[in-house]
Amino acid sequence: MQSPDPRTYFSPVDGGDTVYTVAAASMKFGAGALAEVGGDAAGLGMKRVALFTDANVAATPSAAILRDSLDRAGLEVAFFDGCHVEPTDTSFEEATKFALDAKVDGYVSLGGGTVMDTAKAANLFATHPAGVMDYVNAPIGAGKPVPGPVKPHIACSTTCGTGAETTGIIVFDITQAGVKTGIASNLLKPTMAVVDPTTTHTLPAGVVASTGFDVLTHAIESYTARPFTSRERPGHPSQRPPYQGATPYSDIGSLAAIRIGGRYLLPAVLDDDIEARHQLMFAATLAGLAFGSAGVHIPHAMSYPVSTLNHTYVAPGYEKADPMVPHGVAVVINAPAAFRFTAPVAPERHLEAARALGADVDGSGANDAGAVLAGRLIEMMRAAGIANGLGALGFEESQAPAMAESAFCQQRPLAQAPLPVTTDDLAAIYRDAMHYW
Ligand SMILES: NC(=O)c1ccc[n+]([C@@H]2O[C@H](COP(=O)([O-])OP(=O)(O)OC[C@H]3O[C@@H](n4cnc5c(N)ncnc54)[C@H](O)[C@@H]3O)[C@@H](O)[C@H]2O)c1
Ligand SMILES: [Fe+2]
Repeated sequence: MQSPDPRTYFSPVDGGDTVYTVAAASMKFGAGALAEVGGDAAGLGMKRVALFTDANVAATPSAAILRDSLDRAGLEVAFFDGCHVEPTDTSFEEATKFALDAKVDGYVSLGGGTVMDTAKAANLFATHPAGVMDYVNAPIGAGKPVPGPVKPHIACSTTCGTGAETTGIIVFDITQAGVKTGIASNLLKPTMAVVDPTTTHTLPAGVVASTGFDVLTHAIESYTARPFTSRERPGHPSQRPPYQGATPYSDIGSLAAIRIGGRYLLPAVLDDDIEARHQLMFAATLAGLAFGSAGVHIPHAMSYPVSTLNHTYVAPGYEKADPMVPHGVAVVINAPAAFRFTAPVAPERHLEAARALGADVDGSGANDAGAVLAGRLIEMMRAAGIANGLGALGFEESQAPAMAESAFCQQRPLAQAPLPVTTDDLAAIYRDAMHYW
């Protein structure tokens, strides 16, 4: 089976878009990058910075290296280690209060998606005060646009996962409503992303597993997203959405991330293999850049009800956090079933993703694509100690229709799916995701 020809996937469509944008991030990558952050912050004109982290990351050598770098650059530091793992509207309010009291002229965050999103939120709400729901997309929130630039923010990622260091997205739980949602604006993109792979040395194996599967699903979703040519050409460039569907540019990062993840995720989790963890961090960065322009689709849309409905599960590696389903687990738990559903409309891409992930695709044809990709993902999930489907997280089939209604509200990611998705489809995918082995 030959690799798919991109000319076929991106072939022109009458009235479809012919242009895509690349919202490149300013980024540095490599061992030692953290020690340079003080100089970078001073270079951006910061004098008094808010340093955001969480209690676990605060206790790591990475935090000491970063703090030392800020001190050496002569910066005043207001330190906040109260970020709530998987943030909420309430935890954002606390972080914003801290930022307002601290009167800072810039932000440095050190942590995973939790910390980087909290710093983005504190920066937004301290700069442009508003209610937490004001900037959330309608119909869940008021859908007000972010009014203008925020203060400079250097985001230093410490998990091989979200890619939040390069995205303009903030994800959080609205505690009262039991809904997970987001605020998205290019104005929220960190000024600089710093990825120092040595930060991963202290990550618990369970966190490497969940964040690593987040990376893999980002990459496979971006690669199998609808082609950008299938979207209507916008009347004005400002109407082109930030998430454009797969493009020849996003394909490069997506496929490379799938390949690296397929090779290094299991050694990074099971063998404490430092080099594998560094490679996975690079895959996370590549996938973040790819999904930052292509977008994600069904597994991410379906993850929100999974994480908001379950507050009893304790995943390996998350014993110190409040019980919850970590983002990466909530995403990958639906992924094999979702890719079985999407494969028939783009079988070559699903087979190519399976091949990149390390599956043997010799002799497989279009009809096998969903099964082969799902099979390889399931094999990796099982080996990495991920729960055996939604059933193992405590969900029951009878919850599928309500979860589908809730996931259907996530139209922003669902718009990138390679085929239209109904609530019945989503319910069927949830049922298919109950048990995998
Ligand atoms: N903004 C975005 O673009 C975006 C995208 C996807 C997900 N998210 C959000 O990001 C959050 C998840 O972020 P995450 O998966 O990166 O994990 P996380 O930040 O929640 O961290 C996971 C756990 O690992 C610990 N930890 C992190 N780095 C460590 C290190 N180097 N050493 C030791 N312990 C460490 C944390 O304290 C925490 O207990 C969720 O809220 C999710 O919804 C955001
Ligand atoms: Fe994700």
